[in-house]
Amino acid sequence: MRVLVTGASGRLGRAVLPRLRDGGFTVRAVSRHPREDSTVEYLAADLATGEGLAAAVAGVEAVLHLATSPTRRTQEIDVLGTRRLVVAAGQAGVGHLVYVSIVGVDRVPFGYYRHKLAAEQVVTAGPVPWSVLRATQFPEFLEELLRRASRLGPVIGDPAVLAQPVDPGEVAARLAAMLAAGPSYAVAEFGGPQVLRFDDAVRAWRAARRSRRPLLPVRIPGRLGRSLRSGGLTTTATPTGTRTWADHLADTYGGTGRK
Ligand SMILES: NC(=O)c1ccc[n+]([C@@H]2O[C@H](COP(=O)([O-])OP(=O)(O)OC[C@H]3O[C@@H](n4cnc5c(N)ncnc54)[C@H](OP(=O)(O)O)[C@@H]3O)[C@@H](O)[C@H]2O)c1
Repeated sequence: MRVLVTGASGRLGRAVLPRLRDGGFTVRAVSRHPREDSTVEYLAADLATGEGLAAAVAGVEAVLHLATSPTRRTQEIDVLGTRRLVVAAGQAGVGHLVYVSIVGVDRVPFGYYRHKLAAEQVVTAGPVPWSVLRATQFPEFLEELLRRASRLGPVIGDPAVLAQPVDPGEVAARLAAMLAAGPSYAVAEFGGPQVLRFDDAVRAWRAARRSRRPLLPVRIPGRLGRSLRSGGLTTTATPTGTRTWADHLADTYGGTGRK
């Protein structure tokens, strides 16, 4: 099966490409910038303008849509860009579009999540047979948050916020299986093996990095705080991934990393 992957250069995309190749898919990837990769056919396309999309979807049987722009022009790229992609794929007769979203987009009041939910709706109301997978946070993303939260010295955060990090390689495997299975017309969820409190995640992170930074507890106010503390970012869906936060820390910083 020939599959077009958007966002192939991103964190999840880098895990997806080898998984699809190993699964026997023929992969075409798009990026805003021409890229050299002897194992993948790379085309230039831009969701913000629609440039290159018609050529990118021509002749593919499925599209795996991973591209996103969380911090700038999100409406233009994630919502309207998804619409441009869906229209182009519909015109080209693509048989399946798989969209990757995030657990909690329907209940956690982040601006980015509102855009992701709107993009889901573009996909599910569109002309191309579809499947949606909402994943929880990748451990690398959680680490970025922790680094940002500790810029001033202590790790500043709400100790009771719940997270459920999931390995992007395991998400990639799930996506490959969804492509092989065909359109489900369902929104599925996929999370990591453990629900962690923020303070426990910080303790393990500090131990792995041999850091002595203290945690400075700050309660996130309002609806956002309530939703994050009550598990808005987590899912009870099974099966889950198997790789834990401790596994990620052990791979990144050495040692056993396990608690
Ligand atoms: N990060 C997480 O923890 C997490 C958790 C659950 C779900 N997700 C979802 O998983 C997906 C992938 O996330 P990620 O963390 O791998 O993203 P990422 O590393 O930020 O990569 C974003 C990708 O989007 C592409 N892109 C950005 N603007 C574009 C445009 N105008 N036209 C075409 N492509 C554009 C970039 O490609 P070029 O720069 O090559 O153009 C890049 O490959 C997203 O849908 C995200 O919402 C992420």
